[in-house]
Amino acid sequence: SIDISKLRDLTGHITLDLGYKNTGSTKSAITFLDGEKGILKYRGYPIEVLAEKSTFLEVAYLLIYGDLPKQEQLDDFQASISRHTLIHEDMKKFLDGYPSKSHPMAQLASLVCSLSTFYPESLNANSDPETMDLTMIKLLAKFPTIVSFIYKKSLGHPLIYPKNKYDYVSNFLNMIFGQRTEEVEIDPVVVKAMNTLLILHADHEQNCSASTVRMVGSSDCNLYASVSAGIAALWGPLHGGANQAVIEMLERIKEDGGDTEKWINKAKDKNDPFRMMGFGHRVYKNFDPRAKIIKKACDEILEKLGINDPVLEIAKKLEEAALNDPYFVERKLYPNVDFYSGIIYRALGFPTDMFTVLFALGRLPGWIAQWKEMHENKEPIGRPRQVYVGHTNRDFTDISAR
Ligand code: ACO
Repeated sequence: SIDISKLRDLTGHITLDLGYKNTGSTKSAITFLDGEKGILKYRGYPIEVLAEKSTFLEVAYLLIYGDLPKQEQLDDFQASISRHTLIHEDMKKFLDGYPSKSHPMAQLASLVCSLSTFYPESLNANSDPETMDLTMIKLLAKFPTIVSFIYKKSLGHPLIYPKNKYDYVSNFLNMIFGQRTEEVEIDPVVVKAMNTLLILHADHEQNCSASTVRMVGSSDCNLYASVSAGIAALWGPLHGGANQAVIEMLERIKEDGGDTEKWINKAKDKNDPFRMMGFGHRVYKNFDPRAKIIKKACDEILEKLGINDPVLEIAKKLEEAALNDPYFVERKLYPNVDFYSGIIYRALGFPTDMFTVLFALGRLPGWIAQWKEMHENKEPIGRPRQVYVGHTNRDFTDISAR
């Protein structure tokens, strides 16, 4: 057998695989995914078990360090994070400068990249494990603060600073829903739902944003800039932006009279660019195991919070109609994780344009783990080849004669 990595020059032997549908970019021990069987495991643990039994912070530790933490390790992890939750006060000036209606994903990508200017030790972190660890901790710690500041600023409300008495998720919820003037009680039902959603989004092997983080990191670029690139990749509606697009689509269907059949036909029409948002997945071709968990969580949370969301009924009708439609069945198009996540985020009180930001918060440990693994594996710089299809030789014509 040939060890491809030892072949230095394969000129003339290029594999063309648009969208990398069958091309492995790395060897990874983080996440296992079987798209045919609908299996997803982080470090060997089934997603169903982690979603039920663990917290988001435990899962973050598992993804980044490889094992579930012992209680003492988890306490240390939480304590290190709590020490770094504040962001530099000057970063607030960026928030003042953005137009009030600018998309939070644009702000998030910029602010996360800017962390490298405030914490310059991150620029040399790649070769020193201790600094690398500190850089990872700082990013995990500051990310929820950045997200909440973006949100509060969009409302024109005073910023709520992090409070170390809370766990990771409760602290985030307090910064989002808390007020300066009085203590707000954080509902354990909401904390549980938020933990579940973040766990389900925490990693998904070599998806578009994780591959971007690895690709950017492969040039030895620092973690903050690499993750900022991942945020940009996630923003697109074909990736993380789908959760916002789903709710907007369901709203449109509702306003249009709730005729799901009409919208199914629209999605099937090849002359219409419309796609059924929240349906289909590059690798899950039978079902998305995260969608199953989230659908159940969605029913539970709406019931517990006493919310009757008509959009949920439309979502259920659409799912049922699609599951019985030959177009969707033949192409193996099933609801993905984002079909129901937006409904839960809405029930928790988040505005639509924050949904993809919440996805980013969940995906953060995955990006960090992927970036760390890429460095530990000493992977070479990512540099794909191409199949050139342009002109071969052209004679130059002076501009006056063109
Ligand atoms: N609605 C209608 N038709 C669809 C949809 C959809 N949502 N998704 C795929 N198709 C059709 C395509 O038109 C194509 O049909 P054809 O064979 O007749 O040409 C066929 O199904 C295969 O589609 P591809 O685009 O080749 O599938 P791919 O694996 O490249 O794309 C993707 C996967 C991007 C997720 C796609 O299904 C899609 O656009 N879905 C809607 C957006 C979405 O929900 N994204 C979230 C993904 S999950 C996540 O990021 C967390």
